[in-house]
Amino acid sequence: MDLFKIKRGAQNGIKKASDIKTLEKLRVKYLGRKSEITGVLRSLKNLPLKERKEIGPEANNLRKDLEKLFIARVDKLKSQKSKPKTELDITRPGKKVSRGHLHPLTKIDEEIRRIFTSMNFSVIEGPEIENEYYNFDALNIPAGHPARDMWDTFWLRGNQQFPISNFQFSNKPQVSKSKSQKLLLRTHTSPMQIRYMEAHNPPFQVIIPGRVFRYEATDASHEINFYNVEGLMVGPNVTLANFKFVVEEFFKKLFGPKVKFRFRPVYFPFVEPGLEADIKFGSEWLEVMGAGMVHRKVFDAVRYNQDQVQGFAFGMGPDRLAMIKYNIPDIRLFYSGDLRFIKQF
Ligand code: DAH
Repeated sequence: MDLFKIKRGAQNGIKKASDIKTLEKLRVKYLGRKSEITGVLRSLKNLPLKERKEIGPEANNLRKDLEKLFIARVDKLKSQKSKPKTELDITRPGKKVSRGHLHPLTKIDEEIRRIFTSMNFSVIEGPEIENEYYNFDALNIPAGHPARDMWDTFWLRGNQQFPISNFQFSNKPQVSKSKSQKLLLRTHTSPMQIRYMEAHNPPFQVIIPGRVFRYEATDASHEINFYNVEGLMVGPNVTLANFKFVVEEFFKKLFGPKVKFRFRPVYFPFVEPGLEADIKFGSEWLEVMGAGMVHRKVFDAVRYNQDQVQGFAFGMGPDRLAMIKYNIPDIRLFYSGDLRFIKQF
C-alpha cells in the first residue's frame, strides 16, 4: 500500500475541489469506511509487529493530516461563498426603480371631477344595484315601453330588498309610493338624478360618476361593464344655452381648445328635446354623450313644479373620452389587466 500515493492524490483532489459537494465525495473516498486508509488501519492487526509499528503511525498521521486539509478547504469555500463576487462599484449607473401607474380610466375620472368642480358642480355617487323604479319608471321609461330596449339589462334574481337605503337622502320625504323594487344592475347613472332630486331642492348642479352594466356583446367600443358620468343642473332659469356652455367648456378643458364636437338631436325618454354629442376621433365622429332638457314627467316623479324650474341633464362615457384623449383603439384594453398597456400612461 503506497501511502505516499494516497496522500498526493488526496491533496490534489482537495486543492481542485471548487464546491462543498465535490469535497464531501472526496472525503468519503479518502477517509470513509471503505477508503484505502481505513483498509490499511484495519489490516494492521494481521501484520508482523515490526511492520505494524512502522505503518500504523504513518497511516494514522496521514489520516489526521487529510482531515485537517478537508476542514481547512471547507472553511475556505464557505467564506468565498458569502463574499460578494465583485466589489461595489459606485460609478456604475443605478438600477431604475419602477413606479406604479394610474390606470387611464382613473386619470380621466380625476380629470372630469376636477373640471366640473372648477365649474361649481358637486360630485355625488350612487348604488350600482338599483331597482326598476329608479333605473326606468321614474325616468319616463315604463314597463313595456319600447325604449327599454335601449338598455339591455342584467336583472337580479329574486325580489329581495337590498340595503340601498344608505343612498336615499333623508332630508325630504319619499314621494313615490308604488315604486317597483325589482332589482337590477344599473344600466346608466341616470337613476341618481331621481334619487338626488327626491332629496334636494333646486338650484343645484351635480355630476355623478360611476360604474354601469349592460347585458350585451362586447366589441371594440362596447363592454358589459363600463363607466358613466351623469350631469344634472336644475334651477329657475336653466336653458339649453347653459348646457352648451358647460359642455363646450368641459370638452375644451379636457381635450384642448381645438377639440371638434357636434350636437345631434336624438330621442331619450327622460329629456325633451334630447341630443347627443360626438367628438372627432381621427377621421370619425365618436358618440360620447347623451343629453337634453329634463322631461316634465321626470320632474313630476320628483314633485318639482316645472313652472318654476328647468334643467339639463347629460350622461357620458368616460371610457370613450379616455379612448379619444389617450388614443386607445379598443375599450376592452381598459379591463384587460395587461401591464404592458397600463405602463404606457
Ligand atoms: N342615460 C343615457 C344612456 O346611458 C345617457 C343620457 C342621455 C343621460 C340623456 C342623460 C340624458 O342624462 O339627458 O344612454
